[in-house]
Amino acid sequence: MKVTVTGAGGQIGYALLFRIASGAMFGPGTSVDLRLVEIPAGMKSAEGTALELVDCAFGTLNSVEVTDDPTQGFDGTNVALLVGARPRGPGMERADLLTANGAIFAPQGAAINAAAADDVRVLVVGNPANTNALIASAHAPDVPAQRFTAMTRLDHNRALARLALTLEVPVKALSNVIIWGNHSSTQVPDITHGLLTSSDGTTRHLSDVLQEKLGGSTAVGSWLTESFIPGVAKRGAEIITVRGSSSAASAAAAAVDHVHDWVVGTQDAWTSAGVVSDGSYNVPQGLISSFPVRGQHGNLEIVQGLSVDPEVRARIDRSVQELIEEREMVTALGLLTRKR
Ligand code: NAI
Repeated sequence: MKVTVTGAGGQIGYALLFRIASGAMFGPGTSVDLRLVEIPAGMKSAEGTALELVDCAFGTLNSVEVTDDPTQGFDGTNVALLVGARPRGPGMERADLLTANGAIFAPQGAAINAAAADDVRVLVVGNPANTNALIASAHAPDVPAQRFTAMTRLDHNRALARLALTLEVPVKALSNVIIWGNHSSTQVPDITHGLLTSSDGTTRHLSDVLQEKLGGSTAVGSWLTESFIPGVAKRGAEIITVRGSSSAASAAAAAVDHVHDWVVGTQDAWTSAGVVSDGSYNVPQGLISSFPVRGQHGNLEIVQGLSVDPEVRARIDRSVQELIEEREMVTALGLLTRKR
């Protein structure tokens, strides 16, 4: 597998590349060729990382190349991880942020279109991830829109971890938790379909288990709105406060999980990913929004036919409205070109 990582000299790059090279993304039987893409200012850092990658002597690492030319970096690539992005600077408005990122993701989309392998799969990590993915996809008319995805797996993993801590159960006992919407503070962590499978194989609804643990449905309602949902949505800010810099290792782990489940599959299990909407769950077609998905036959397929709780629905509508506004803004800025 040829894997290209942009922003390779940054924090997430440093946590991500070693895991890909060690076989965590595709398993021990698949060797990888890594392409590290940076801007000139980040080249030295990426080159240093490449030296260390070589020194690890990973059996699954076939080659490493570093470049500041996106077309060269995406040449023949099977998996493109778009991590490098422009962070919001002081006094920067949303339009300025979207414009600055459009200048990164539009040419990268075009370079993927021109150079990547026919089966290329793209994961956008750099924020604002959903709209950056939309911009890149718009500039890659020959690549199916389903191959451009945005990362909400970190939010999904944070939700699982928080539930596991609250219920004092292992993470692996939990399933069918969902993140809907935008990877932003409006994201919607949803446990209404969540299940807990005990070690004896019995499966119960998370809402029932939470009621037992927290003392009734009113207590669960307050826990969800006052602790769980904002706790997951604001975890990134909490990490910055405590650690002094943003989450990098957990973001890298989530990127590995996302691509693993896409390529290798999830069997029947669900996860969450930002994928292009086909109109499912009344999310307007073409928006890249987070949904419950299964990795099947090399695709991320939206889990269909789930009932949506009215409170969850209202939250999804707010988050989708934010995505619509971002799409309107990048359209007005001329950052989306018409697909062929
Ligand atoms: P960082 O600032 O440490 O590294 C970013 C790197 O990208 C820098 O080395 C920079 O030189 C490089 N870069 C900038 N423009 C580039 C371009 N056009 N081509 C190639 N490289 C370029 O940032 P960090 O911590 O690695 O985070 C990267 C992004 O990931 C940020 O946008 C951050 O907000 C986002 N993020 C997303 C998460 C998610 O769940 N979707 C979670 C955590 C972070």
